[in-house]
Amino acid sequence: MKVDLLVHSGAQLVTCASPDRPKRGRAMADVGLIPDGAVAVEDGRIVACGPTPEVRADYSGRDTLDASDRVICPGLVDCHTHLVYAGDRVGEFDMRIRGATYMEILQAGGGILSTVKATRAATVEQLVAAARPRLDTMLALGTTTAEVKTGYGLDTRSELKMLETMAVLAGGKGILNACSPPREHPVELVPTFLGAHAVPAEYQGRADEYLDLVVEEMLPAVSAWYGGSPFAGGGGQMSLFCDVFCEEKVFDRFQSERVLRAGLERGLPAKIHADEFCSLGGAALAAELGAVSADHLDVTPADEIAALAASDTVGVVLPAVNFNLGSAQFANARAMIDAGMALSLATDLNPGSAPCPSLPLVMAMACRYQRLLPAEALNACTINAAHAIGLGDRIGSIEVGKQADMLILNRADYRHLAYQFGAVPVERVMKRGRLVTDVAAGCQ
Ligand code: NIG
Ligand code: FE
Repeated sequence: MKVDLLVHSGAQLVTCASPDRPKRGRAMADVGLIPDGAVAVEDGRIVACGPTPEVRADYSGRDTLDASDRVICPGLVDCHTHLVYAGDRVGEFDMRIRGATYMEILQAGGGILSTVKATRAATVEQLVAAARPRLDTMLALGTTTAEVKTGYGLDTRSELKMLETMAVLAGGKGILNACSPPREHPVELVPTFLGAHAVPAEYQGRADEYLDLVVEEMLPAVSAWYGGSPFAGGGGQMSLFCDVFCEEKVFDRFQSERVLRAGLERGLPAKIHADEFCSLGGAALAAELGAVSADHLDVTPADEIAALAASDTVGVVLPAVNFNLGSAQFANARAMIDAGMALSLATDLNPGSAPCPSLPLVMAMACRYQRLLPAEALNACTINAAHAIGLGDRIGSIEVGKQADMLILNRADYRHLAYQFGAVPVERVMKRGRLVTDVAAGCQ
């Protein structure tokens, strides 16, 4: 049978296959490796994969790609980012090196709140112009899908403006302020509403009143916006998620529960920033509410690790944050995998706690500081990350029926992804079967 594309002769075809569910426990160390592998693609979907001689016996490609001495693996999924923001926090970097902590800077009105000021002042077009090159870098490093949070607006208009920016990057015209010409970025975006990211300056000391605004005005507005947005339509089955920063001096366990329950009532699946600095019960709350993911988990106690492991919630750890904050303490991801938690890794790309676009670098950190095997790190950034954003049935692995989001690495062993660091291990990126970067040919 003739198909659009046949990628063949890959030294390793790494499938990360895990039908219907994320990987846990020992399965995390299995990347589904097929030596001398091939993938047949039709209409942007995978129609066959397996040993090259077998695939070639049944399929020939209108286009072919020889992956000799190369790895074929799934496109990476960055399931936790704050991609859309204005300005940077390079001055704060100096302050932290001199000894100020992340939370001290936030409490003094800097940190997240300084990015809020800059983001409120920016137009959709300025935010798109700032985010697009970051997405280009992520794509060149192998990311083919990224979750993106609001949370630097913290008023209804500015939160909608952040969503609007994501819609424009996704190729939509934008609903509120038409931004032209629409140009879809190859990295597919998944939006999350994070109105409860911090208490904005005008509500200082009145966190509960701010949450009234989040629940009574923002949530209805963002869900109405979502219904008419490019994210809701199409074959994509995508959700708008609702997230909250559950942390001492930000939102406590009860405030977090209020926000997440209000989101669930409107059909927004829950996510949570939990246990980054203090344990307030946010991880247990995630398990109780059936959250799609619980993220950070740096100081999560053993009983809450067990609660997550027993739930369908994916645990997302973010070692670039610890690294960036100069900490030697990392989330105990080894214990999480061993307890049976479905574990994922993400960059947390943001201007404060993790100005890092690179999942390969995150994998490198997880292997060294959290004792993950390269196989575990790769599953964490592909199939399990896809489940952390509710898209495990469509992306995250090379399996028949899935979207053909694939990478060709410039090495013959997938472990180079984590073994090397500071390098670009990716030679070609395919999104829905279409070549979107090609370092080998010099075009990106
Ligand atoms: O995931 N911790 C809260 N939010 C982000 C940081 C955002 C920022 O510093 O701008 C995080 O680390
Ligand atoms: Fe975050």
